[in-house]
Amino acid sequence: MGDMRHGRIVLLEGIHPSAEARLEKTGMEIVRMDGSLERTELESVLQNATMLGIRSRTTLDRSLIQQAPELQAIGCFCIGTNQVDLSTSAKLGIPVFNAPFSNTRSVAELTLAEIVMLMRRIPQRSADMHSGKWRKSAAGSREVRGRTLGIIGYGHIGSQLSILAEAIGMKVIYHDIVSKLPLGNAHPAKTLEELLAVSDVVSLHVPATPATRDMIDEGCLRRMKPESLLINNSRGNVVEIDALVNALRGGHLGGAAIDVFPEEPRSGDSPFETPLAGLENVLLTPHIGGNTLEAQAAIADEVGEKLVRFACEGSTGTAVNLPTVDLPSRGEGQHRILHFHHNVPGVLGTMHSALAALGVNINAEYLQSEGDLSYVILDVDPVDVEAIRTELEKIPETIRMRIIVD
Ligand code: NAI
Repeated sequence: MGDMRHGRIVLLEGIHPSAEARLEKTGMEIVRMDGSLERTELESVLQNATMLGIRSRTTLDRSLIQQAPELQAIGCFCIGTNQVDLSTSAKLGIPVFNAPFSNTRSVAELTLAEIVMLMRRIPQRSADMHSGKWRKSAAGSREVRGRTLGIIGYGHIGSQLSILAEAIGMKVIYHDIVSKLPLGNAHPAKTLEELLAVSDVVSLHVPATPATRDMIDEGCLRRMKPESLLINNSRGNVVEIDALVNALRGGHLGGAAIDVFPEEPRSGDSPFETPLAGLENVLLTPHIGGNTLEAQAAIADEVGEKLVRFACEGSTGTAVNLPTVDLPSRGEGQHRILHFHHNVPGVLGTMHSALAALGVNINAEYLQSEGDLSYVILDVDPVDVEAIRTELEKIPETIRMRIIVD
């Protein structure tokens, strides 16, 4: 790991300009590209990228990561990180950062709006108007005030929705597998079945796990109140789509809003089909729950800042693949040694001895280990950088190291 200040940050896929403004603090050259790259172009860019920023369309597999000689950190300017081979990057001491919360408010807002739209049967009213039909009627149209919202998954999104829904007068109950602090006047349902039975709207905000796969099946839909609404802005395989289609066609459910699907096209050029198309009072959106300009800017700020902190301080706080060390800034004039190594007994002792032999005075030490990997950061009085590099690189367990100077 060399001095990152002379490195290059490559940002692909039109990452929001806020990221650039943050990353300028690193002093590195920043190259920004609008689209994703073909494999050969990506290989070539990776020859001299010190940090790479991507979104969901760039896949970084093992061979690409192994053939990136300068690469020191990867920023996923999105929520998911499954497009990156996390284990290979971890083995090479390359942290991968993402933005797990930055778009959650956007999803909560969309969900709230959908509740109102479906309660008023707006999808149909709007479609009628677009085809020249003036059907003014109160039939099936309701206020949301006083009605019960059942939230499944009371995490970052579910809990924000809880607050927003109460603010417009809804009663909120929730179900989570983990005990969660109820916000406002919300309270946990005793069981999932109870939530389904009493809610006028059921909204899903769970992750994709084996337990949530097809979680809302025919049996669950049957337990829901007649004419109630279902919203899925979480993951596509949480709801059995055919069962939902039947519940809507048969009139048991009053409507649905679906943003995520079991199979989603990779790009806007591919066609999209779903058996939900054309059903009454159904809002379909192309996985845009979290896609707002504000969320994009917040993601750029969040991941940009994490990359800056890694470049300038060595902090791996919230990295998804490496031991996380989130540490205070260096003391005035101090040098900082960052050392990734295999987690076996004796490495720290060897490092201490090597540094003592060079007369290095250690002022602070931060260590975190996880599985096979350890990350240690040492704040030291100013040192002979090259001598230290030579000695520490001799330790066979060293994966990579860097020394931050002024
Ligand atoms: P989170 O991790 O903060 O919350 C998820 C909650 O679900 C946690 O409290 C967890 O304990 C709970 N949970 C897990 N398994 C459960 C189960 N079997 N039954 C009941 N509760 C369970 O996640 P966050 O940020 O609130 O996101 C929720 C979902 O929304 C995720 O699937 C995420 O991928 C999706 N999402 C969708 C977006 C879109 O554009 N439509 C954008 C952002 C997130």
